[in-house]
Amino acid sequence: MALIPMRVLLDHAAENGYGVAAFNVNNMEQIQAIMTAARETDSPVIVQASRGARSYSDDNYLRHLMLAAAELNPNIPIAMHQDHGNSPATCISAIEMGFTSVMMDGSLEEDGKTPASWDYNVKVTREVVQYAHARGVTVEAELGCLGGIEDGQGAGLSEEEAQDHLTDPEEAGQFVAETGCDALAVAIGTSHGAYKFKKKPTGKVLRMDVIREIHKRMPDCHMVMHGSSSVPQELIDIINQYGGEIPETYGVPVEDIQEGIRNGVRKINVDTDNRLAITGAIRKAFEENKAEFDPRYYLKPARAAMAEVCKARMIAFGQAGHAGGVAKKTLEDMIKVYDMQTA
Ligand code: G3H
Ligand code: 13P
Ligand code: ZN
Repeated sequence: MALIPMRVLLDHAAENGYGVAAFNVNNMEQIQAIMTAARETDSPVIVQASRGARSYSDDNYLRHLMLAAAELNPNIPIAMHQDHGNSPATCISAIEMGFTSVMMDGSLEEDGKTPASWDYNVKVTREVVQYAHARGVTVEAELGCLGGIEDGQGAGLSEEEAQDHLTDPEEAGQFVAETGCDALAVAIGTSHGAYKFKKKPTGKVLRMDVIREIHKRMPDCHMVMHGSSSVPQELIDIINQYGGEIPETYGVPVEDIQEGIRNGVRKINVDTDNRLAITGAIRKAFEENKAEFDPRYYLKPARAAMAEVCKARMIAFGQAGHAGGVAKKTLEDMIKVYDMQTA
């Protein structure tokens, strides 16, 4: 199947009460792992690339890998999404490269670090919505700031500081109305990376009440949860058993994500869990056979370990079994839908 606009997938998820994991990719093995999991669970998928991923793998390699994934998996709807676009220029270049969805993250300024003003966020998001919708491309926006920092992206807020930058449910309604975005990433106390919480999170730090409140006010809004890796202890144990040094840390429990899905969350961003799975498998392979040096020896188990994580999330978020039900709408179809909305 050709790559589809992400909005089509989010609408189907909302109609059927499920969420879709959005997995980050940087290379062929990660894309293959996602597609294996999608085939085995009959899931529609969102594959996303950060700015760092785009420069690491080079846009052209990524694009052709994604086209290969679509060609080899004709029954799986795939949305290709730019994660954390830092400026309209980044989003425009992604659209030119064939991405069917972009995130304009105007919650931070173009440096990807400084929390931005309301006016700035509205201005850049609107600009991207205008450009993207004219081409049928989906736009995710963000209001409020996550904690942490990943690959230079993020305000570097601590777990405690992130509590001062949560999404305000009242502002969320105004923001969606003023920008016309298709999906809204909300800040609820999570952060990117493995070090989200020092203890198993309670409702005091993982603010699911913010999601419930936004859903109550805007039942049709597709919400996005970033920083949603669960950081499973089993994956950390494997890394540490084979020479790693990951200190005690906690992620977002799958049960909380499921509660989010019952309250309007439609896209759940997961990168760290896959990174942990890959690293654990490679460390294990290195330890078990120190004479082996064929990259396939350690990349195969790494790819398989990531596929297992993806499968588990696809099942837990409810997207499994839904590949066949998603409408086969194209970018051209979505141009007409957006045209009708603005007419
Ligand atoms: O936004 C966070 C994702 O985990 C992507 O991370 O910027 O290191 O590729 P990255
Ligand atoms: P994790 O670091 O929790 O996997 O979050 C990834 C993310 O939000 C990408 O945008
Ligand atoms: Zn994110």
